[in-house]
Amino acid sequence: MARKDMRGSRITSIAFHVPDRLVTNYDLERMIDTSDEWIVQRTGIKQRHWVEGDVGASELALPASIEALEKAGLKASDLDMIIFATLSPDITFPGSACILQAKLGCPGIAALDISNQCTGFIYSLSVADQFIRTGSMNRILVVGAEVHSSGLDISNKGRDVTVLFGDGAGAVLIEATEGDSRIIDTRLHADGRYLDILKIVAPASKLNPRVTHEMLDKGLQYPYMEGRAVFKQAIARLPQVINEILDANGYSVSDVDLLVPHQANLRINEMVIGIMGIPRSKMVSNIDRYGNTTAASIPIALCEAVEDGRLKSGDLVLLAAFGAGLTWGAGLVRW
Ligand code: UT7
Repeated sequence: MARKDMRGSRITSIAFHVPDRLVTNYDLERMIDTSDEWIVQRTGIKQRHWVEGDVGASELALPASIEALEKAGLKASDLDMIIFATLSPDITFPGSACILQAKLGCPGIAALDISNQCTGFIYSLSVADQFIRTGSMNRILVVGAEVHSSGLDISNKGRDVTVLFGDGAGAVLIEATEGDSRIIDTRLHADGRYLDILKIVAPASKLNPRVTHEMLDKGLQYPYMEGRAVFKQAIARLPQVINEILDANGYSVSDVDLLVPHQANLRINEMVIGIMGIPRSKMVSNIDRYGNTTAASIPIALCEAVEDGRLKSGDLVLLAAFGAGLTWGAGLVRW
């Protein structure tokens, strides 16, 4: 149950940003051997947004962050930390949190990158919540942002992965609270034994040199995925972690007002709610319009649910994600 009168953290503002360029399944049909029918049936995706030209994750994160700050009536200098979840950082190092900090103009505050793929937003939310609960910080900007499109194999060889991913960013402001509206709990998991079923192999520090023309010719710079294995793990792990977080906090599935799951595949999410007995009307789904935006998918979906009035003050919101690592996790929020 919500820990009343105890210091906790609360999402006080939320915004998102996607690039203008819309890529429909019909556009992909003209680039690779695929079809709108195959993509919609297997994934539920109809379109996604892709950047044009040289655009890094921090550039998508910036407008979302500025809007989240403006909605809260705050300045970047009011923040104590930026946490940036991404698997597609602007450059190898420094991390995108430092790059975003420079763009926002708030030198000196902490800047932390989190690389936990599709679970990156939940891990980041959890880290922010811990820092605020302990009293060490008061205001944290948590961003999930990805530019996938520049790293996809737009050829028939890469078609299984390429059709899935979209670019985008979501930003939330997390602030200290003693009220009922708060992050009630987060649960985080990983199983590195499965790291090979979804990964990018090069460039890599374990390769010397880190990248060669030969590696590029082999396409090692593109994501590799064993789709069916990932699918099977997702439909096992998501119900587990949802049950874990509800049980640990004394709630049952019927108490949940809204489920905001990571948007990887509509079939995965429909199977999960089938297993859990959650009605379809309680699940947010926008994968048809954005594809899989990885660390950005939950804040984008959450923001849309707030904007269209589905998410109201006092609602119990369940967040759940699964992705490469493998990593998975859940968050329970009293809105
Ligand atoms: O955020 C976490 C990241 N990833 C995921 O959650 C992905 C989890 N996995 C999935 O969502 C599904 O496995 C996919 C959507 C990726 C694939 O669906 P599937 O039903 O598992 O298909 P499959 O990989 O078994 O492939 C079935 C057929 C194959 O042809 P054959 O061998 O049956 O002739 C593929 O070559 O579909 C073919 N195929 C395609 N056809 C048209 C694979 N990609 C495509 C494509 N367009 N884009």
